[in-house]
Amino acid sequence: LEEKDAVEAARCPHAASSRAHSLDAIPGPTNWPLVGSLVELLRKGGLTRQHEALVDYHKKFGKIFRLKLGSFESVHIGAPCLLEALYRKEGSYPQRLEIKPWTAYRDMRDEAYGLLILEGKDWQRVRSAFQQKLMKPTEVVKLDGKINQVLVDFVGRIGKMNVDGKIEDLYFELNKWSFESFVSICLVLYDKRFGLLQEKVNEEAMNFITAVKTMMSTFGMMMVTPVELHKSLNTKTWQDHTAAWDRIFSTAKVYIDKKLKRNADRAPDDLIGDILHQSCLSKKELYAAITELQIGGVETTANSMLWAIFNLSRNAGAQRRLLEEIREVVPPDQDPCGEHIKSMPYLKACLKESMRLSPSVPFTSRTLDKDTVLGDYAIPKGTVLMINSHAIGSNEEYFDDGKHFKPERWLRENGSINPFAHVPFGIGKRMCIGRRLAELQLQLAMCWLVRDYEIVATDNEPLDVIHSGLLVPNRELPVAFIKR
Ligand code: HEM
Repeated sequence: LEEKDAVEAARCPHAASSRAHSLDAIPGPTNWPLVGSLVELLRKGGLTRQHEALVDYHKKFGKIFRLKLGSFESVHIGAPCLLEALYRKEGSYPQRLEIKPWTAYRDMRDEAYGLLILEGKDWQRVRSAFQQKLMKPTEVVKLDGKINQVLVDFVGRIGKMNVDGKIEDLYFELNKWSFESFVSICLVLYDKRFGLLQEKVNEEAMNFITAVKTMMSTFGMMMVTPVELHKSLNTKTWQDHTAAWDRIFSTAKVYIDKKLKRNADRAPDDLIGDILHQSCLSKKELYAAITELQIGGVETTANSMLWAIFNLSRNAGAQRRLLEEIREVVPPDQDPCGEHIKSMPYLKACLKESMRLSPSVPFTSRTLDKDTVLGDYAIPKGTVLMINSHAIGSNEEYFDDGKHFKPERWLRENGSINPFAHVPFGIGKRMCIGRRLAELQLQLAMCWLVRDYEIVATDNEPLDVIHSGLLVPNRELPVAFIKR
């Protein structure tokens, strides 16, 4: 009987509660006094290689392991059944790991928190103000016109910048595209532009982009050393970080104020206008919410596009099949639109496969708000869980021949893929709120690019990937765009 029970428990992680082991029983690398496994992690390549180290640990210790880095302890989960167990036990207000440098800035300047850092009922209030419109496919699809306006400029720019098919600093160009697309959807009054894709780039827009970059590159340090210390010593990191946030907020405010003013003059006629009009959020809350949508949405979208371009460049067969689908569905005299995308399963499969093989965000986190049993372990309230979608996506147990780009795997009728094995946007109530918008932007961008250009690999050397907030290639992408 006992053996049968054990099999049942292995199959169903929720059923294991009566025999659950304590946190201490979770395996993991050697936990040395004071440093924990920090030295080992540094030996494995440090923070920029942490994604590889974590995948290795999952290979070594299995679906769940425990890791202590200095005084920071976390439990890592990397199996669909554990993600499902977590999802089923999720409370009303799931929490992620606190980003202290951001909350410290907000508190100092008396600014509000946005969705990335809010918690509890306040998080839910702001989330529901945006959720209904931003997560509803029938609402998001209406944005295709605005997305396309920016794509016309982007594809034109690729044509102009193109030297022997190569684009200098493609990632930066993609960031500008994504930024312009976000701003034109969310902030700018209709038919105006932020100006990032013009020949002579608007200086204010460039300052804004640089400020976001500085803000992102200075917060990591203050996640591993106390923010209070940086603040009281007024370190250069703290000064740069706060100056960057000042610039981000002041620019965002100008645009949000203009939008609100226009809403006051006439009924809103777009998605964000509607949200601003209908929500009961204060002005301060709107500033923070929209600024954080942007922080969450711009580089992630650019980064996913970069990886899609890379994967298509290395898989000419898939690119050919994608082009065929585009030509079949989109008449040559029409722009690709949201309606076309509905009939393009291969395009959707290419994007999913690219996000599986080359994820932008390798993991997300949860701070447990109650004692929770996951698999064989009872995990206490307050524990930080890391949900490793990268480890799941690269595990042969869930994706056969997983090192290869095979969009077809998403189209198989039988043997369909466990939904908890593909979570590039996170899971549950706190999942990415921009998911639908990101998918539409990326799908349309792939249509425009592949229809106009053949994306070719300029070498076939392996591409090293480093973790710098997102997963990025460590050299210029070896691709060229050849006009069809
Ligand atoms: C949260 C990925 C695009 C706004 C997240 C999370 C992930 C993610 C993994 C954490 C979810 C969790 O903890 O379960 C991505 C990827 C994107 C993308 C890969 C592009 C391909 C966007 C866009 C926006 C956005 C376009 C804005 C329009 C946000 C916000 C959150 C979030 C505000 C926090 C949500 C909350 O806590 O309620 N995203 N994201 N993201 N994302 Fe995205």
